[in-house]
Amino acid sequence: MTLATADGAGRISARVVLLKGVGVDGFRFYTNYESLKGTQLAAHPRAALCFHWKLLGEQVQVRIEGDVSKTSDDDSDAYFATRARGSQIGAWASLQSQTMDDPADLDRRVADVEARFAGGPVPRPPHWSGFRIVPERIEFWKGMPSRLHVRNVYTRQDGAWTTQRLYP
Ligand SMILES: Cc1cc2nc3c(=O)[nH]c(=O)nc-3n(C[C@H](O)[C@H](O)[C@H](O)COP(=O)(O)O)c2cc1C
Repeated sequence: MTLATADGAGRISARVVLLKGVGVDGFRFYTNYESLKGTQLAAHPRAALCFHWKLLGEQVQVRIEGDVSKTSDDDSDAYFATRARGSQIGAWASLQSQTMDDPADLDRRVADVEARFAGGPVPRPPHWSGFRIVPERIEFWKGMPSRLHVRNVYTRQDGAWTTQRLYP
């Protein structure tokens, strides 16, 4: 999904992340809290998500907006434990979104982390965890002929959802 975030000054940044969970508590993804998106979400805890599917000639888009909070340590630990060991090591080794002066630094950092955790499990780094977007607006968009697309928006206010149809 595409995840759009903004910093405190309203500068917006978008990138793709993996949706790892959907539930009554919102939409979850996992990342490095010290990355650009992590620092933006700390400064401005709101986000927009966008999905696009192209299915056998049909196009579907789903847009979600809402407040963002960190997931619990238990949730983050449980997900981190399911990751491949190489990805767990990468989460320690990568200074995500920071400038890399020498590409060999990444290999050195990976080797250091491998040596540090050799023969044992790789714990979750303290700077790596999940975020949850709690939706307050969800739009389902369905492509139709002549661009007369169907747009149904669900908006949550004071715990209750209302729905509206929008012009395409
Ligand atoms: C298909 C795909 C899935 C990705 N999934 C994630 C993810 O789940 N978490 C993550 O931190 N980055 C993920 N990335 C990398 C991000 O797009 C991005 O490069 C990285 O998180 C740094 O973004 P930032 O500098 O805006 O924080 C993914 C990229 C692609 C193309």
